[in-house]
Amino acid sequence: MKGKDGRMKQVKNLVNITDLSLKEIEYLIKIADDIVKHPEKYNEICKHKKLATLFFEPSTRTRLSFEAAMLEMGGSVLGFSEAGSSSATKGESVGDTVRTVGCYVDVIAMRHPKEGAPIVASQVCQVPIINAGDGGHFHPTQTLTDLLTINRCKKRLDNMTIGLCGDLKFGRTVHSLIEAMQRYNNVSFVLISPPELQVPDYIKESLKNSGTSFKEVQRLEDAMPELDVLYMTRVQKERFFNEADYIRLKDSYILDLAKLKEARSDLTIMHPLPRVNEISREVDDDPRAQYFYQVLCGKHIRMALILYMLGIDPLEKWL
Ligand code: NCD
Repeated sequence: MKGKDGRMKQVKNLVNITDLSLKEIEYLIKIADDIVKHPEKYNEICKHKKLATLFFEPSTRTRLSFEAAMLEMGGSVLGFSEAGSSSATKGESVGDTVRTVGCYVDVIAMRHPKEGAPIVASQVCQVPIINAGDGGHFHPTQTLTDLLTINRCKKRLDNMTIGLCGDLKFGRTVHSLIEAMQRYNNVSFVLISPPELQVPDYIKESLKNSGTSFKEVQRLEDAMPELDVLYMTRVQKERFFNEADYIRLKDSYILDLAKLKEARSDLTIMHPLPRVNEISREVDDDPRAQYFYQVLCGKHIRMALILYMLGIDPLEKWL
């Protein structure tokens, strides 16, 4: 695609977490940690740079953390938080929308209900596109958030057993987290879901191809004792074809203190949020609950990612 100067240009995009190498992820985690150590260094680092958040689907954390991240670095933000306030309602294509917005900003974070929309956008856009969630497909920036949280809590990203619990079929955060974590050594997965909400076959294939050990179980209690990380998820109401199925499955798992009795004392409990009923409020005060800390990690890693997409290297050629 053509850059702002009209010339052909190669831009970085983040559509799938596998667009980043492990080395690049390590680099982003280093920047995120540096942001906490030396916040003053980052106050103005994005001065005169602009981020657009184009959200065709609802969001609280992802959109606001991108915006907070950019504002904290002295940059500016613009965009929309629902498709209804954009020209999508007039029938404009995603490609035309991002090409237009690409004339105004330096980087775009977009969320769309249709799987694959960010790929289409990245093919025509003249500035970097960050996928902030596409339908039931992928959510790479939540995964970066999750990796930073795990790394900060566990001081490692390898040698662990991760339990993923809830809607593993439609939960895009789960799909991206599996894609990412299976690249680290000696990571195994316990996939905890009702049969109707198991991970899609393409994810199972990818686990088999990478030689990653995984098992599928239905009872959370059975999995609990062996877990280093428990990643709870919401049943994704908006992706169900009929309401009766949603109502039947929505409360399949509710994590409470009784269920945690069998858990390890160093378990890390995560959730991408929003939570509905799947974690009882009484768990919030347990020292193992890290889902609100995870929110903070989301801002730090998005600051790092924006810098990387803009080609700004605060660690001076660490890569
Ligand atoms: C998730 C999402 O949008 O996929 N939320 C988030 O980005 N933190 C999870 C969800 O909606 O259940």
